[in-house]
Amino acid sequence: MTLTLDDIRARESRYVLPTYKRQPVAFVRGSGSRLYDTDGREYLDFISGIGVTSLGHAHPGLTAVIAEQAATLLHTSNLYYHPFQAEAAARLAQLSGLARTFFCNSGTEAVEACLKFARRYWYTQGATSRTEFVALEGAFAGRTFGSLSVTHDEHYRAPFAPLLAGVTFVDPSRPDSLVAAVTDRTAAIIAEPIQGEGGIRPLTPQLVAAINDVCSRTGTLYIADEVQTGLGRTGAPFYFQVLGLNPDLMSLGKALGGGLPVGAALLSERVSQTISAGDHGSTYGGNLLGTRAAAFFLTQLMDQGLLEHVQRAGEHFERRLRALALKHPAITGVRGAGLMRGLQLSMDATPVVDAAREAGLLVNRTDEKVVRLLPPLTVETADIDRAAGMLDAVFAAHAREVQV
Ligand SMILES: Cc1ncc(COP(=O)(O)O)c(C=O)c1O
Repeated sequence: MTLTLDDIRARESRYVLPTYKRQPVAFVRGSGSRLYDTDGREYLDFISGIGVTSLGHAHPGLTAVIAEQAATLLHTSNLYYHPFQAEAAARLAQLSGLARTFFCNSGTEAVEACLKFARRYWYTQGATSRTEFVALEGAFAGRTFGSLSVTHDEHYRAPFAPLLAGVTFVDPSRPDSLVAAVTDRTAAIIAEPIQGEGGIRPLTPQLVAAINDVCSRTGTLYIADEVQTGLGRTGAPFYFQVLGLNPDLMSLGKALGGGLPVGAALLSERVSQTISAGDHGSTYGGNLLGTRAAAFFLTQLMDQGLLEHVQRAGEHFERRLRALALKHPAITGVRGAGLMRGLQLSMDATPVVDAAREAGLLVNRTDEKVVRLLPPLTVETADIDRAAGMLDAVFAAHAREVQV
């Protein structure tokens, strides 16, 4: 029996903790860049589970390796060896230049691991007072206590205070304030190369220069939070490479498992040297299923032309979005790179997101006035054109309503 949306909503409203403000739709099936709801209606998915379903829905190769692994061995724990952690980690090292990987299950866990490893590094150096962090206004790093402590939004933080002590937030448009915030107590600076939840805002070259300068002068570690930007999303393996940053640690998640919950903290050789058995761990982290899926995703990205596809598709996407911005005054800016794009609006983005969904296109709102677009990395050019056409119609209808 197929449940209707109303059935699902009724049961959920009774039993599920209402931590999410959901849109009125339930999906039952997907294929490539398309999703199908309980009524069989088709949608173009330009949010891909918030940057997660990197290979699109029901990718035949990913489906096959997951099915085969599920039928063979799902999980044994980190008490024992299996081959897939090293397979995925070797690929991550090749792609990033960072020496070693710790596997976990989400972006927030990856950030937690990076914060802990940064403290562990200084502890090992005998600098036990270097425990503090510098983060950016607008940052989002997750919802667990450590990552929430380096997330800026008061709405997320205030009900859960006190958070980690010694976190200083600086305005990303003020490199001087970043330099001033770093003291002899600072363990690390953490920053997303492009702020995702913060409105698709890349770091400025001035801020990048300030991070590089202060880190090299003081030894302060830099943690690149690439949970959203990493793994090909921007057309580069990682966006720190585009900006010229030199991370000692990096948090990854989202795209890595192609839809399975896989996170990773990557460490430079210098930081890796200070971590030993027992310093950190996770029951599920690095399980066979997740890391096999991650290894498969990385093969697609590195050996099967996916990265080059994102570069081409990303350029096309940008052209289409810039053309929309020229036509519709409600769009005041286009930001981002590759297949991570934001349309800055002059108004709240909610009506646009709703109208797009009603027209059959899934996008989302971030930082109130930004429409965020994160299609699958496999998205076809024809679907980019379709999505641009739908957005064109949505903005045209909005302009008519405003005039009435
Ligand atoms: C940059 C960044 N870091 C960390 C996280 C947290 O990841 P997760 O939701 O998998 O815990 C997110 C999630 O949106 C993110 O965008």
